[in-house]
Amino acid sequence: MTERYLVTSALPYANGAIHFGHIVGAYLPADIFVRYQRMVGSDVLFICGTDEHGVPITINAEKAGLTPQAFVDRNHELIKGIFEKIRISFDHFSRTTRKVHYDVSQEFFTVLLKQGFIAEGSEPQFYCPNDKRFLADRYVEGECPNCGASGARGDECPKCGSWLDPKTLKNPRCKLCGATPEARETVQWYLHLEKFQFELEQWIASKNERWKPNVLRFVRGLLAEGLHERSISRDLAWGVPIPLPNAEGKVLYVWFDAPIGYVSATKEWFASNGQPERWKDYWFETATNKPKLIHFIGKDNIPFHAIVFPAMLMGMKHAGIPYVLPENVPANEFFNLEGRKFNKSEGWDIDLEAFFARYSVDSLRYALAALSPETADSEFTWKGFQARNNSELADVVGNLASRVVSFCHAHFDGKVPAFGDPGAFGKQLLDERDKAPRLIGSWIQRFELRNALQEWLHLARLTNKYLEETQPWTKRKTDALASGTSLHVALRALRTLAITGAPFVPDGMQRLWFMLGQRGPVEKQPWDDAIVQIQPGTRLGPADVLFPKIDDAVIDEEIRLLHVRAAAKTSEVAARTQPGAPASARPRPAPDSTRHEHEEGARKPMESEQNPAVAAATAPPVSPAFAPIKEQIDYELFSKLDLRVGRILEAEVVPKSKNLLRLKVDIGIETRQVLAGISQCYAPASLIGRQVVVLANLQPRKLMGLESQGMVLAGHLGDAAVILVPEKEATVGGIVK
Ligand code: 2FM
Ligand code: ZN
Repeated sequence: MTERYLVTSALPYANGAIHFGHIVGAYLPADIFVRYQRMVGSDVLFICGTDEHGVPITINAEKAGLTPQAFVDRNHELIKGIFEKIRISFDHFSRTTRKVHYDVSQEFFTVLLKQGFIAEGSEPQFYCPNDKRFLADRYVEGECPNCGASGARGDECPKCGSWLDPKTLKNPRCKLCGATPEARETVQWYLHLEKFQFELEQWIASKNERWKPNVLRFVRGLLAEGLHERSISRDLAWGVPIPLPNAEGKVLYVWFDAPIGYVSATKEWFASNGQPERWKDYWFETATNKPKLIHFIGKDNIPFHAIVFPAMLMGMKHAGIPYVLPENVPANEFFNLEGRKFNKSEGWDIDLEAFFARYSVDSLRYALAALSPETADSEFTWKGFQARNNSELADVVGNLASRVVSFCHAHFDGKVPAFGDPGAFGKQLLDERDKAPRLIGSWIQRFELRNALQEWLHLARLTNKYLEETQPWTKRKTDALASGTSLHVALRALRTLAITGAPFVPDGMQRLWFMLGQRGPVEKQPWDDAIVQIQPGTRLGPADVLFPKIDDAVIDEEIRLLHVRAAAKTSEVAARTQPGAPASARPRPAPDSTRHEHEEGARKPMESEQNPAVAAATAPPVSPAFAPIKEQIDYELFSKLDLRVGRILEAEVVPKSKNLLRLKVDIGIETRQVLAGISQCYAPASLIGRQVVVLANLQPRKLMGLESQGMVLAGHLGDAAVILVPEKEATVGGIVK
């Protein structure tokens, strides 16, 4: 029987860009699961959208000088663009500010109110006497009552993940003005979770075997503490209005309306396809329809997906609306970056745009899936990323494919060779190949992607070992059939790898599919066809490099830049918080940047003879004395400089030069070749995709036999790179005035 799945990924806050931690937690695993389900022929719908309400949005919109609506419009596009880049294949990506969402959320509220699961009440709430307003959630900060960390917010502690009631915060302060808030009585609406305690316990008990132990532990802990009512309204102007006449100025708490976004997005999707009733097939459980609802989330979202939202769905069921309860909530643990939490404001993050300009989506998807924090916290390290790409994807899979296909082109007329006796090892390999799709699939079905990848890689490793042992390269002249048979067996294994690897690395597997002479999208192949034989005589496609390797220098540069950026942020914050602080009191770089400082210190100062103008402007301070100021130039001369925003498209070292890079730079009006003396500061690949400022009207000149058509304003100060870049993404070709 065909299974029907509704798969959701946590709706990301439309509060800024997302990072790898989010991707590895809720989006990539869901995408792999969904791609697999599509290939096995399940009826699967993959739903997500941006979560656009809540206090963080109003606070940050204000900081950005935008209305909340303009702010979420911008972030919705930003986040959607990231998901597209990383090939997250949602069927529908919606928003919680759409009318359908308001309607569905208000309907949930009204039904639950009628059922007595929501009730009006009044309670003292924090009120700021300065700002003359009630302080919802994050408008209050203080110390966490559970772990004692400072910076806990009214609704949650970012340190320990506890779900808080603002009144329990120690030393509460108004986030707007810092004043100590006072308690004032106000009317709110409460979801009486305690009414679902028993039903939730029964439901969770039925999940024992199939849920991840970390999720069950968390949920059982919450249930053991005992559930109680939670306020689901807020005094705010931004959100879904409470649909009652006496509720002016009150909106639904964002955590009440957000999960309803899964329902409203499904409704919207089918309505836009002219099937307004079909959403019910995925949300309503009846005697004949048993959809499986799977919520992919990060650890911090467990209470809402395993307690609050199921309770709301149970409440709807009590009203005779047969909502299905989640089949599973495969939450992941936290994901860090080089030992620390991702934190954009501390400079401890990775710019996704720059990342995608330099590395393939496949290498990221593979590394994240292989490092996925399935049962314990894990981390992204640049070296780990490189190792996954180089030693696994490139060496084990990519190299296998290109060796085999190239050899067939060179010696077997570009066709799949005939199949003779594969020998004992060949039989064992083919046997394992036949089992691989089922094994890989069952790991994916259990949300154990790391194990699924291990199984996939095992098949590729075994194939490599088989080729080493059978040596088709050397046997070709003495025993063409044996040589061809080995290649044929390897091609069969590669075909299986292409299909079973497609949910993880879709681009590379599509290219492998074509290399194997197969047609159409690999993702449309039925999973079970992974063991279909490859026919002798099939014409192979051209050999391709599936997964380019990443150089050590590129990775070292990434690590260096991460630390440099973090140190710069630390100094920036310190400079802001200590106006007029003497130089001796300036903060030192973050302790974990020492290794890279040391490496930098070991570098020779860069020679700049090829780029004298920049070199002159930024002469290294070799002596403690300051160099005398050069001859003055007048403004008229300066105003002749034609400075334009450019984007580096290509970068490579000029062979035999000391420090020259040959850059190809798009300056809007045309593309220029520019030579820059900065190779000792930058690994070429780390520059690709970056925006720079180009002096466009500098007379062309030849360096090392190559014409430099302008100058990138980049140089160095001692051993540190100095580069002029637009502060935010700018229009390429724009004139810098
Ligand atoms: O943690 C978050 O990013 C929330 N915006 C997740 C919401 S998930 C669902 F409930 F919508
Ligand atoms: Zn205040």
